[in-house]
Amino acid sequence: MSIRIKMLLSFTGMLVISLLFILLTASLYTIAATGDLQSFRDIYKVHYQINPLTEQGETIFQEMKFTAKSDPDELQDKVLLREYDMKLRAEKSGLYVRREDSPIFESRTFHQPGLGQALPAYDLNNNQIRSTFNIGERFYAYAKFDFQYSDGERGSIFVIRERSPFAELTRKLLPVMSLLLIGVLIIANLLLFRWITRSFIQPLHQLRSSAEQIKNGNLSFKLEPSSNDEVGQLSEAFESMRNQLQRSNELRQQDEINRRELISNISHDLRTPITNIKGYIEGIRDGVANTPEKMDTYVNIIHSKAVSMDKLVDELFLYSKLDLNQEPFVFSPVDLVDFMEDSIEELRYDLEDKGVGLEWHNRTSGSVLSAVDLDKLKRTIVNIVDNALKYMNDDDKRLRITLETNQEWNTITFQDNGKGISEEDLPHIFERFYRAEHSRNSSTGGSGLGLAIAHQIVAGHGGLIWAESKLGEGTSIHIQLKRLIDERGKKHD
Ligand SMILES: Nc1ncnc2c1ncn2[C@@H]1O[C@H](COP(=O)(O)OP(=O)(O)OP(=O)(O)O)[C@@H](O)[C@H]1O
Ligand SMILES: [Mg+2]
Repeated sequence: MSIRIKMLLSFTGMLVISLLFILLTASLYTIAATGDLQSFRDIYKVHYQINPLTEQGETIFQEMKFTAKSDPDELQDKVLLREYDMKLRAEKSGLYVRREDSPIFESRTFHQPGLGQALPAYDLNNNQIRSTFNIGERFYAYAKFDFQYSDGERGSIFVIRERSPFAELTRKLLPVMSLLLIGVLIIANLLLFRWITRSFIQPLHQLRSSAEQIKNGNLSFKLEPSSNDEVGQLSEAFESMRNQLQRSNELRQQDEINRRELISNISHDLRTPITNIKGYIEGIRDGVANTPEKMDTYVNIIHSKAVSMDKLVDELFLYSKLDLNQEPFVFSPVDLVDFMEDSIEELRYDLEDKGVGLEWHNRTSGSVLSAVDLDKLKRTIVNIVDNALKYMNDDDKRLRITLETNQEWNTITFQDNGKGISEEDLPHIFERFYRAEHSRNSSTGGSGLGLAIAHQIVAGHGGLIWAESKLGEGTSIHIQLKRLIDERGKKHD
C-alpha cells in the first residue's frame, strides 16, 4: 500500500473517529440531560421540551394539574391563581389560564400581547404536555394541561418560562452548526492531507524519478530540494550524491581518454627511434655502410636514437612516478641564490657553446631560503633551460634568469627571446605530451614531458609554475616557491 493511500486512510480514520467522538459526546450529554436516548433524534429541542420548568415550577405545575383533575372550577379563583403566579415569578416563570378562547388569568411577568395566540390549541388527551414556542425573537418553554370545567367548557393551564435568546439561537443553529463543523473537519482534513502529500509525497516522487534517471545512466539533471525538512535534507543528500557520481564519472571518462592518449603517444614516440635504429642496422647488415666513415655515421645515429629512447623512457618513468605520488621528495632548506649560481655555473659552458648570451639578475639581498628537493629542482631548471635552447632563434640568442623575492614567495624567472608560444598553446604546455608542434616531429622537439615533469615537481614543492609568452618575441617561465622563515622567526633578506 502506498504512503499516499495509507495517509489518506489515516486522515479519513481520524475524521471518522472525531465525528464519532462528537456524536458520542453529544449523545452522552443528551442522555445525561434527558435520561432518554430516544429523544436523541430531537437533541436540540428535547431538553426544553422535557424540562421546560425549574424544579419548583414543575411542583407548582403538578399541583395545579392535580387541582385541574380533582376540582377544575377552583382554577377560576383569581386569588389562588395570583398566589401561584407569585410563586412562579420567583422562578422567572409565569402562569396563563384560559377558558375556551378567553384568558382567565395572564401573568404580568411576560408583558407579551401576542401570548394568547402563540399558545397551542386544546388537546384534552394531553398528548404533548411540554413544548416550546416563539413570539418574535423571544423563546418560551412551557408545561400545559388541558381539562374541562364542571360545565363542560375547556380550560388550560400554562406554566411558561422564557428562555434566553442565545439558547434559542443555538437551538435553531444547531443543525447548521453541526453540518458546518463536519464541513470544517472534512475541509481541514483535506487541506492537511494535501499539505502533507505536497511536502512529503511529491519530493519522494521526484527522488524516485531521479534514481531511475541515474539507473539509466543520466547524471546531468539537477534535483532542487523543495523544503528544509527531513525530506528536503534527503533530497540534498541525494543531489550531492548525484554530483559526486557525475564528477567521478567525468573523471573516469577523462582518465580513460588520458590513458588512450598516453598509450598512443608513447607508442608513437618509441616507434620513431626504433624504426630508425632498425633501418640503420639493416643498412649495416645489408652492407650499405661499406666505408668506415659511413659505418661511423650509422653507428652514431643508432647511438643517438638509443640515447633519445633512453631519455624518453627515463622521462616517462619519472613522470609516472610523480603522477602517482610515488616519487619521494627530500626537502631541505636551500638558499636559492647559492642554488641558482651553482646551477648557472653548470649550465654556462653548454650555453656559451651554443652561443647564448646569459644574463643573471639577483634582485634579492642576503640569502633567500626555500624548502627544496635539490635534485628535482635542478631537473626542473634543466628542462626549462633545455626548452629555451631548443626553441631559440638562430641569431642573437639570449636567456635572462632572474631571482626575486617578496614577503611570501621566492620567484625564479627564465626569459628567452625565442620563437614564443601561441595563445592557444600557452595554456596547455604543462600538460603531458603536449607539444605546440603537433606533428610530433622528433627533430624539432622532444616528447612533451619536460614541462609536465617541471609542473609536477614544483607542485610537489607547494609552489607555482606558469608561463608568459608572445609569438615571435620570447617566453618567460616563472617558478614561485614558498619563502622559508628562519629559526629566529624572521624572513631572510
Ligand atoms: N621556451 C620555449 N619557447 C618556445 N616554445 C616552448 C618553450 N618551452 C616550451 N615550449 C613549447 O611547449 C611544448 C612543451 O614543452 P615540453 O618541455 O613539455 O616538451 P618538449 O620540449 O617538446 O619535450 P621534452 O621536454 O619532453 O623533450 C614544447 O613542445 C614547445 O612547443
Ligand atoms: Mg622540453
